[in-house]
This record gives sequence, C-alpha cells and structure tokens, in this order.
Amino acid sequence: MHRVIAIDGPAASGKSSVARLLAQRLGFEYVNSGALYRALTWHVLQNGVALHNREAIARLAGAARVQFHDSRVLINGTDSTVHLRDNAVNSAVSLVSQVPQVRAVVNGLLRGYARERDAVIEGRDIGSAVFPATAFKFYIDASPEVRWQRRAAQGEHDTITARDELDSARTIAPLIIAPDADLIDTSALSIDEVSREILRRLHGKGLAQAG
Ligand code: DC
Repeated sequence: MHRVIAIDGPAASGKSSVARLLAQRLGFEYVNSGALYRALTWHVLQNGVALHNREAIARLAGAARVQFHDSRVLINGTDSTVHLRDNAVNSAVSLVSQVPQVRAVVNGLLRGYARERDAVIEGRDIGSAVFPATAFKFYIDASPEVRWQRRAAQGEHDTITARDELDSARTIAPLIIAPDADLIDTSALSIDEVSREILRRLHGKGLAQAG
C-alpha cells in the first residue's frame, strides 16, 4: 500500500512550499493538484472555449492527454508549465475547476499516480474528497493579510480572496476542513517550521520514513 499525505488549504497558505519540502524530507513524490486544474484551464483558454460552456469544457478535459510531475504539466504533449500562473488562468481556474468532469479527470490522475508511489499531494479537497481514507491529512491556513503578502512577494497579482470565495462556495468538493484533518496556522511560522511540525505529527501517527 502506498501512502498519501494530504495537504489542503486556501490560496497562498504556504501549501506548495511546505508540501514540496515535506516530500523531499520523506523521500515521497510531490504533487501539486492545483497545477493540474491550472493546466486544464490554460487548455480551455487556448481552445477559445467560453467559460460558461461547461459541456465543451467537460469534453475538452475528458479528451486531454495529461502528463505531470511535480508542478510540471503537459497537455497533449505541450508543456503548459510557464502559463500556469498567467493572470487569465488565475481568473478562470475556479470556474473551470467547478465542472464535475474536470474534477473527475484530475481525481483519476491523482489516484492513478498514488497507486504507484508514496506521495505528498496538495490541493483543496485531497483529504476531504480525493483520498478520504488516508490517515495523514493536514489543513494549513494563514491570515488573509499574510496570504496576500506572500502572493505579492512572489510578484503576483493573484485574486486570492475571490478564488477562495468561489472555491469554498462551490457545491462539488468545496474547500472544507475534513473532520479528521490536523489544523496548522502558518501565519507566524516559516516553511521549515511548518514542515517540521507536520513531520512531528506524522511520526506521532505512526508514519515511518519512505521505504
Ligand atoms: O493551489 P492553486 O491555488 O494553484 O489552485 C488553483 C485552483 O485550482 C484553485 O483556486 C481551485 C482549484 N483547485 C481545486 O479545485 N481543487 C484542488 N484540489 C486544487 C486546486
């Protein structure tokens, strides 16, 4: 049985940095599920599909050949990685990721990947919906001010508040805290401190190093 460590939380909560560092320390693979939603969103925009046309979005996502590793995503053989943080993608990704078939495509990819290897997977619904049976779930958060500052420090004008509202209000797999998730507020902690805290709790839950 391969192990999944789920790291969920809102935009700019520090998920990606923490999940990547944690994966390195454990010798697990790191998976950024948001990158998959972003890549499919980029694909939708590239194809000129209107964002209200959910049927066309579903068809396009269903037909896409997706390959990924870490935060790198290829769609039908084309590397989408440099486009994943485009403003157009930031603005459209919450709408595209609300389409049930898009979620089914991403969930299938994540579950297939985790069948083959131990993975730290970050996202919005990894512990609550994609891998509900994993014993290793964390929900990491930070105050809105800290999250906004973190995005600004990355030189991005991300619409994090608007995305959080959409991601939390949607009916399918919304951003929620799984009842059995461990909560960590990262507002006053460094990436290293958060990752150490998660490692400490994982050991408490009986997780040994990779092997
Ligand atoms: O993690 P991120 O900010 O790059 O994610 C981009 C968007 O993708 C996010 O606003 C909502 C969607 N997403 C999702 O619906 N479910 C996930 N597991 C991960 C991301």
